[in-house]
Amino acid sequence: MTNPSLLILPGDGIGPEVMAEVRKVIDWFGANQGLNFDVSEDLVGGAAYDVHGVPLHDDTMAKALAVDAVLLGAVGGPKYDTLDFSVKPERGLLRLRKEMDLFSNLRPAQCFDALADFSSLKKDVVAGLDIMIVRELTSGVYFGEPRGIFEEGNERVGINTQRYTESEIDRVARSAFELARKRSGKVCSMEKANVMESGILWREVVQKVRDTDYPDIELSHMYADNGAMQLVRWPKQFDVIVTDNLFGDILSDCAAMLTGSLGMLPSASLGAPRANGRPAALYEPVHGSAPDIAGQGKANPIACVLSFAMALRYSFDAGAAADQLEAAVQKVLADGARTADLMGAEGGTPLTTTQMGDAIIAALSA
Ligand code: NAI
Ligand code: MG
Repeated sequence: MTNPSLLILPGDGIGPEVMAEVRKVIDWFGANQGLNFDVSEDLVGGAAYDVHGVPLHDDTMAKALAVDAVLLGAVGGPKYDTLDFSVKPERGLLRLRKEMDLFSNLRPAQCFDALADFSSLKKDVVAGLDIMIVRELTSGVYFGEPRGIFEEGNERVGINTQRYTESEIDRVARSAFELARKRSGKVCSMEKANVMESGILWREVVQKVRDTDYPDIELSHMYADNGAMQLVRWPKQFDVIVTDNLFGDILSDCAAMLTGSLGMLPSASLGAPRANGRPAALYEPVHGSAPDIAGQGKANPIACVLSFAMALRYSFDAGAAADQLEAAVQKVLADGARTADLMGAEGGTPLTTTQMGDAIIAALSA
């Protein structure tokens, strides 16, 4: 048997810094649990532009399509702000998402016990929280035609179109139901079927997929505006939430902040299952390249480490290893390990990026 393959794209700013800590974690699982990966590394974003004049080389794109999973750090930075739109670092990431057809974006909101005080919400509202937002990523109002700014009479009109086909709704619903089967079996679908035809179709198709192929799933529907209120009022009523691209963009950011810092938040973007059963998959922290702290050893590597934990769970059928890695993160936080972004008013000396990585390795080994 060949090892599963993993392409690492550290990117720009703090991307390479946090990825260096994930490399230690990957090596640890190889050395201690015989969980070996065929790891290759390449350039993306500004780092790729500096060498190739494009934010993603065709060869890198081809590799991304061939491997079992891609793990990306972050792209962008002030150095590239004046570049033409067509070669901006972000375009490298967008090309990966598009050509890998990553339609299902998984954004967990998980409360780490030691950080419950860090939330802006009351402790009992967030303690133990562990929910997952599944956002449709490749269609909807960000892509629908017609779009643009047009002349109409003697003024201009800005137009974007919310558009969803049945098959687009069907496939993201399936991905949410599959995910729910590995969790509590509960899914809440959010749209605005009260005022949008695309929402009526969304609700119908999600219900039909459930009734036809996932009768074991407990499915509910909610208007997205109420969903936003419920997320802040009592988020633990949810497990998996599935929603469209626009509502998902907003609801996932809202849910993420229930539990704290940008430096803690992982994500997965999944496509259709391939011949070997594994989905096309890209894992990345939610944060960007953080130019304000890049090169100073201040970045929190946990978001990227937890993105690798998601890869273990969703690409490599290594749920036990993922649990173990998440438990190691819980443990270092419980022991008081904090990078600067996790420090409250109480002060103290923060850990560097490397020290936090080392603490996670020590917890894994304990
Ligand atoms: P950002 O996420 O890079 O930073 C926002 C704030 O959070 C900064 O103060 C930063 O220091 C802090 N922060 C972010 N990650 C952190 C971590 N791991 N540990 C500690 N603190 C952390 O977003 P910003 O500043 O809006 O964008 C900076 C650059 O990153 C831009 O070029 C932007 O286009 C790009 N970007 C890239 C993304 C990606 O690669 N997926 C996503 C978001 C932004
Ligand atoms: Mg957003």
